[in-house]
Amino acid sequence: MITDNQEEPLLISDIPKPVVQKGQVLVCIKAAALNRRDQWIRQGMYPNIQFGTVLGSDGAGLVEEIGAGVSEDWIGKEVIINPNVNWGNDPRAQAPDYSVLGMPTQGTFAEYIVVDADRLAFKPDHLNWSEAAALPLAGLTAFRALFHHGKAAAGKNVLISGVGGGVAQFAFQFALASGANVYVTSGSQEKMDKCLDMGAKAAYSYREEAWFKKAQKETGGFDVVIDSAGGNQVNDFIKIMKPAGRITFYGATNGTPEKLDMFRMFWNQITLQGSTMGNDQEFEAMVAFVNEHQIKPIVDSVRSFDQIISAFDEMKAGKQFGKLVVAF
Ligand SMILES: NC(=O)c1ccc[n+]([C@@H]2O[C@H](COP(=O)([O-])OP(=O)(O)OC[C@H]3O[C@@H](n4cnc5c(N)ncnc54)[C@H](OP(=O)(O)O)[C@@H]3O)[C@@H](O)[C@H]2O)c1
Repeated sequence: MITDNQEEPLLISDIPKPVVQKGQVLVCIKAAALNRRDQWIRQGMYPNIQFGTVLGSDGAGLVEEIGAGVSEDWIGKEVIINPNVNWGNDPRAQAPDYSVLGMPTQGTFAEYIVVDADRLAFKPDHLNWSEAAALPLAGLTAFRALFHHGKAAAGKNVLISGVGGGVAQFAFQFALASGANVYVTSGSQEKMDKCLDMGAKAAYSYREEAWFKKAQKETGGFDVVIDSAGGNQVNDFIKIMKPAGRITFYGATNGTPEKLDMFRMFWNQITLQGSTMGNDQEFEAMVAFVNEHQIKPIVDSVRSFDQIISAFDEMKAGKQFGKLVVAF
């Protein structure tokens, strides 16, 4: 069991097995995956931190018990968990009381979790437990950013920025499956080489100052850019968009840009669009898309639960390619 507290940011401890209430299910977790969010919480860099919470937004497992009002058919089913808590009725944006599984609600870094039955989806048959656990949060975030906001489609030039990221790797795989012309940036030659092997048309190092000029020259510009780094680089993206291009960002790891090239944006009809997670219909559509295209999440490594703190340290170092998974 993993909780956070101020003196010792991560703690593994025993807590009582959760009890199902009406409309809920008890899931025996087989694998859980880390997200950058978990590390932000560890560093105290996430809003409304509540100590003593079981972290973890991603999990896959077996339904062991059901509460009143839940169909008995769920018992024994292999499932993944939708990490949205209270998205609400507006598909465009989440409700004010929205949260992500794993703070303030108890998360997946535990042998058992209780969730509302409507949070369950069947585990895709072509995925093992680790791959299935890697999918929910990052897959959902990538799906909405790429398709709902980015309007990525066959034949479009799509740039996935920082492709080594947990969300970006899904955006990369989803964009490939959509038939788009997919390009990537990364700070790692090894990651770029892997993406070229998997079907990227070209890869650029964001560590090279003029990478965007080369990309513009070679590709003719981009219809869609998917990014989570933010910072001053946003102005480089603006320079390499095709007219009416869409830059979608779901994070701002490098902060806000010091200035924004608004002149070029309005003249070229560029959209700069924020995106967070995705609604429940998008979660369903994302899982269906993964099944249809037989997409397998890229798993960097799998370790036993008692080694979970080393996975947080690895995430902080940022050397992984694909998701960091713990198995129970
Ligand atoms: N809004 C949401 O719903 C949502 C959901 C998930 C995550 N996020 C946020 O999105 C961000 C990424 O999350 P994640 O889980 O994908 O994190 P992650 O797995 O830790 O990925 C971070 C990646 O950022 C890339 N990067 C670093 N510097 C860059 C730069 N200058 N330009 C482009 N890319 C750069 C690196 O890519 P390379 O390794 O290829 O160099 C790195 O792998 C975080 O800030 C997170 O909080 C938001």
